[in-house]
Amino acid sequence: MAVLTAQAIRMIQIGGACSIVLFLFYSLSHFKSGSFGDSFSSNVNIPGAPVMSFKNVPKPKPANSTLDFQEILYISMPWRTDRQDALSLLAAISGIKMKLIPGINPSDMHVKGEPHMLNGQNMTGSPALGCWRAHANAWKYMIDNDIESALILEDDIDWDVNIKEIFGLWQWQLKYNNTIRWGRENVKKGWKEDCPYGCDWDELWMGQCNNKVNKNRLDLHWTYEDPNGPDLDSLHDWSKKEMTQVWNVTSDNRSGNQMRVTSATYGPLCTMGYAVSRMGAMRMLYNIGGWKGLGSPVDLEIQYKTNDGLLSGYTMTPPAFTVWRLGGNKDSDNDPNIEKNNNAGTGNENGESKGIKHSVRKHLSEVLEKNYWRDMENEIR
Ligand SMILES: *[C@@H]1O[C@H](CO)[C@@H](O)[C@H](O)[C@H]1NC(C)=O
Ligand SMILES: *[C@@H]1O[C@H](CO)[C@@H](O)[C@H](O)[C@H]1NC(C)=O
Ligand SMILES: *[C@@H]1O[C@H](CO)[C@@H](O)[C@H](O)[C@H]1NC(C)=O
Ligand SMILES: *[C@@H]1O[C@H](CO)[C@@H](O)[C@H](O)[C@H]1NC(C)=O
Ligand SMILES: *[C@@H]1O[C@H](CO)[C@@H](O)[C@H](O)[C@H]1NC(C)=O
Repeated sequence: MAVLTAQAIRMIQIGGACSIVLFLFYSLSHFKSGSFGDSFSSNVNIPGAPVMSFKNVPKPKPANSTLDFQEILYISMPWRTDRQDALSLLAAISGIKMKLIPGINPSDMHVKGEPHMLNGQNMTGSPALGCWRAHANAWKYMIDNDIESALILEDDIDWDVNIKEIFGLWQWQLKYNNTIRWGRENVKKGWKEDCPYGCDWDELWMGQCNNKVNKNRLDLHWTYEDPNGPDLDSLHDWSKKEMTQVWNVTSDNRSGNQMRVTSATYGPLCTMGYAVSRMGAMRMLYNIGGWKGLGSPVDLEIQYKTNDGLLSGYTMTPPAFTVWRLGGNKDSDNDPNIEKNNNAGTGNENGESKGIKHSVRKHLSEVLEKNYWRDMENEIR
């Protein structure tokens, strides 16, 4: 759904003039240090190799049907039954359970219910306001229902067939090897905590469509091998650039195994896939429109608040969720440039995603196609 997805696509791929101006305005007015490109040059050194023992620690295991969060919520406009049908199939194939949080049409919102305006940005009637409201409803749902942690997804994403292994491993890394939180020598301190992903985060990002790193704190990251990680060459440009130019991962590091980086969250873009803790949901609602005002689309607000240290957590690069594109007006529910395209595309079967090792969308046909009569040809009774 996401304005944000669309926005990033505009920025990165299509480059619609209006959105570039909008995006740069929002970014420059917030980040004094400049645009994304700047963050990729830094001289911060990280200390040497870790010294640690992993005795008495369970091995990583696949995550459960809610990917080791209490629930999985997904946001979809009520009329996008095409996307909802697809997600039902994908969830069934992956063995995961998710709950629909309906997307919000901004024309259904009363002006009195809107957050107060920040920086003179009038968002009344804008798709970005509806998008914010849908995410705010997801946070509110968590708060009202005592949900300790939830993964929040949008409806136009792709993931890997081994998504449970990917999340199980990340969960293990965050709980048993969180060198950002404890330092390299003290990761044991996290072992006795109850929360699957550790107990210290507001937000976890694994569905960003671009990312700004904190170039002053490049020490706050670690690299780990993930057999289900995608090849560097298959990644979206921004993600490949972050891996190679910021984290210095090269194809030499791989030797058959794939690498992922966990870093302290700083500037993720897009809200296609992220998790929040209950406290994180409260902090988001408080800081972003539910108590304080709103001056930009929800992903930028989250980015700014994280940049300012009001929200914190961990980001996975390359991300586990990437956008699935059909090429046509079905690709957005809120971007006028995409919506005015008369071409509805040729359907889900011909869509594409990048940066997923074994796409679950492409895998659907392998599981569901059959031909009874061909299979019976040699079975003469
Ligand atoms: C990556 O390599 C550059 C050049 O050697 C170095 O300055 C930088 O600190 C390295 N980045 C990290 C995260 O280690
Ligand atoms: C999966 O694990 C999480 C975290 O332990 C838990 O809250 C959730 O209830 C589990 N999901 C299911 C379906 O059992
Ligand atoms: C904001 O925009 C809406 C719709 O364009 C308009 O009706 C409203 O008067 C504007 N509000 C302010 C405070 O400018
Ligand atoms: C734990 O993190 C360190 C970096 O802080 C990394 O070098 C090491 O490979 C990780 N351990 C495992 C088992 O992944
Ligand atoms: C990757 O390999 C290169 C060259 O061997 C090395 O300089 C770099 O530190 C390695 N990076 C990581 C993240 O292991």
